[in-house]
This record gives sequence, structure tokens and C-alpha cells, in this order.
Amino acid sequence: MRIDKLLSQMGKATRKESAQLARLGKICVNGIPVKKADMHIDPVKDEITLCGEKIVYKQFTYIMLNKPEGYVSATEDGREKTVLDLLPEEERRKNLFPCGRLDKNTLGLMILTNDGDSAHRCLSPKHHFKKTYFFKSSLPISDEQARELEVGVDIGGYFTKPCTIKLNEGRTSGEITLIEGKYHQIKRMLEAIDNKITYLERISFGSILLDASLKRGEWRYLTYEEEKMFIGEEQ
Ligand code: URA
Repeated sequence: MRIDKLLSQMGKATRKESAQLARLGKICVNGIPVKKADMHIDPVKDEITLCGEKIVYKQFTYIMLNKPEGYVSATEDGREKTVLDLLPEEERRKNLFPCGRLDKNTLGLMILTNDGDSAHRCLSPKHHFKKTYFFKSSLPISDEQARELEVGVDIGGYFTKPCTIKLNEGRTSGEITLIEGKYHQIKRMLEAIDNKITYLERISFGSILLDASLKRGEWRYLTYEEEKMFIGEEQ
């Protein structure tokens, strides 16, 4: 692998910056400064340092973000703030994208990665990756309506796949678990029973739970265990 590719994948420097840094003697391979950033190295065996900082190579990055209200789930948007704006420059340079969409006013667990294959697999309904949301509704939901939602409702020409609902006391809040993610799905499901979502927060994605210690807008890397769940899990 080329040094400049490694540094760009790790969000440390663009290829052009790497070329300059190499000329300045700021990049070392096994303790020896290199003059050319297109040199090939073994990312596992060779020790790379940039301005004295050891660079540990990882092919993909997996981030858990506690999405606040007011951010769109996109990598770029001409007008709105995106979830990528909540990450530091070094992470933004890694070509990360949100794994699935949450509406601008939906909160909670969002995974960002640059591992396209795993993200695609997690989002495919075929793999039955469960996503659980805590919700509040403007009107109480009856047992009959909950069953209706669980079996599937028409959200405008599309019948939703079976889901599960747990209602809290009072019946205006609870948890809903889906294996798919159509546009505004939960909001449209509630509209199908003449009700309205007033609050929506994703609390789990597969077996990965939203870290309660993350404040809104905060992020962290997935742990090794969570990465395994994301990469390899089938529900
Ligand atoms: N369903 C919705 O309606 N909105 C979301 O953000 C996620 C699921």
C-alpha cells in the first residue's frame, strides 16, 4: 500500500499534503524519513509515523453518533447542517457516510462508516437487521391498533413488513422495532392509524445499543464487539 493512500484513508493528510510532508522529512517508515509519499509499505508490519505520531492503520472506521435534532443524514447538503458536521476534520476526511437515514427531527443512534459492503448488508431488509425506536404519539394507541401496525399497514401504496410494538403505560409512548426503513416510515405508519408521532429516537441498531453516556451530538468509535456485530451480524 502507498504511504499517501494510508495517510489519506486515516484522515491524516491528502495525497498532495503527504507529498509535501514527505519532502519536509515529516513521514518516517521504521524510524527512517522517506522523501516520497508514493513509496509502498506494508501497513501491518511497517511502523509509520507522521510528525512523530504513530499511525495505526485500520481499513474501515465505524462511528456511533448520538444524533441531535436539526441535522440531516447526508454527507453534504447545500443548506442544512449534516451529521458529518458533528465530526472533527480528521474523521470527515475518511469518506464516512451515515448508515441509513434518520429524519432531521429524529434523534439517537446513528452509525457512520466508510465500509460500504457492511452498511449495505445491514440496511437490506433481507438480513432482518432490527432497528428499535422510542416514540411518543399525540393520541393513545389501542391494542387493536398496535396489532394492526405489527401486521403491516398501507403507507401510501406500500404495505409495511411485520414489526413489533411495546406500549408504555398511558399508551402514548413505547418502542417500535422495524426490519426496514422506508422514508418517514414510522411517522407514516402512525398516520395510517390517524395518529401522529411527536418524538422519535433510535435506541438500537441490530444488537448495538445507543451508548447512554453519549450526549446529543457526541460520538465515539464502535468498540471491537460492536464492530463485530455491525460487520458480521445477522439477526
Ligand atoms: N421513521 C421515521 O418516520 N423517521 C425516522 O427518522 C426513522 C424512522
